[in-house]
Amino acid sequence: MNACIRAVVRTALYHKMKVSGVIGGYSGLINGDFIFMDSSSVGNIIQRGGTIIKTARSKRFMTKEGRQLAYENLKKQGIDGLVVIGGDGSFRGADVFSNEFPDIKVVGIPGTIDNDLVGTDFTIGYDTAINTVVQAVDNIRDTATSHNRLFFVEVMGRDAGLIALRSGIACGAEAILIPETKTYINKLIKILERGWQRKKTGCVIIVAEGDDAGGAYKVAEQVKKKFDKYETKVAILGHIQRGGSPSCMDRVLATRLGYESVIALKEGKSKVMVGQVAGHVVLTPLENAVKHIFEVNENILNIADIMSL
Ligand code: F6P
Repeated sequence: MNACIRAVVRTALYHKMKVSGVIGGYSGLINGDFIFMDSSSVGNIIQRGGTIIKTARSKRFMTKEGRQLAYENLKKQGIDGLVVIGGDGSFRGADVFSNEFPDIKVVGIPGTIDNDLVGTDFTIGYDTAINTVVQAVDNIRDTATSHNRLFFVEVMGRDAGLIALRSGIACGAEAILIPETKTYINKLIKILERGWQRKKTGCVIIVAEGDDAGGAYKVAEQVKKKFDKYETKVAILGHIQRGGSPSCMDRVLATRLGYESVIALKEGKSKVMVGQVAGHVVLTPLENAVKHIFEVNENILNIADIMSL
């Protein structure tokens, strides 16, 4: 997010616009918490995780009264364009807000580790998150192999399995359980049996937190009842996936989309998300961007299965 904030501020200044930062997302809009931003205010942040202007999940912005206050504060500040960096919740809010108050132009930038938005190949944060997962699972793999253990590693993604899928392939997981496909415990046990027969010394199963089997602990319990040849362990990676210094790919994506968001505002665009598809910048209506992708590429799933042989 910091790389993106930096790009928005500097592009806007280049185009002679004034920029304010809203502290704490929609809560900040409602409370009138604005800070003036100049070029130095975003210096030395491209490499930092998190966001210097902070963020929050705002229940009040879901109410008409909250959005009205936000609008009044924006007007008081003389602000006529809003850049929202976030995921589906932020964009749903932005879409409702811009329907109610069309005189404030709103452009969204996809910022979520889940990579679950339509209209961009990648969301900002996803690449960093999956690299963190890969590094963590590589470390876990050392114990799995040395102690002949079976690890169930739970990763984030809310109701999407894209973090699990990509990181699972990259760390050679024996199986990847995702919400987009049904999980069959018997099938999983067959995979583990097959590995045991060919004398695999340890196994790692990646479980997306939104998987229909109910997360890593529940899957581990069910598997243990029928297959107990390996000692079983569970690791929940949690919020280590949401922080840390961003990857090169994320910094570049954030910079490009931050830049393009200002260009879109300058051209009078509103209610759109700026994304990158096949290397090109694409604008998608906010209401379409939040239509979750519940389909995953069958071929990728098939490859992941074959790789666990
Ligand atoms: O949507 C991003 C995400 O990191 C999800 O993957 C995860 O389920 C959730 O946010 C965690 O949110 P919180 O930090 O509020 O628990």
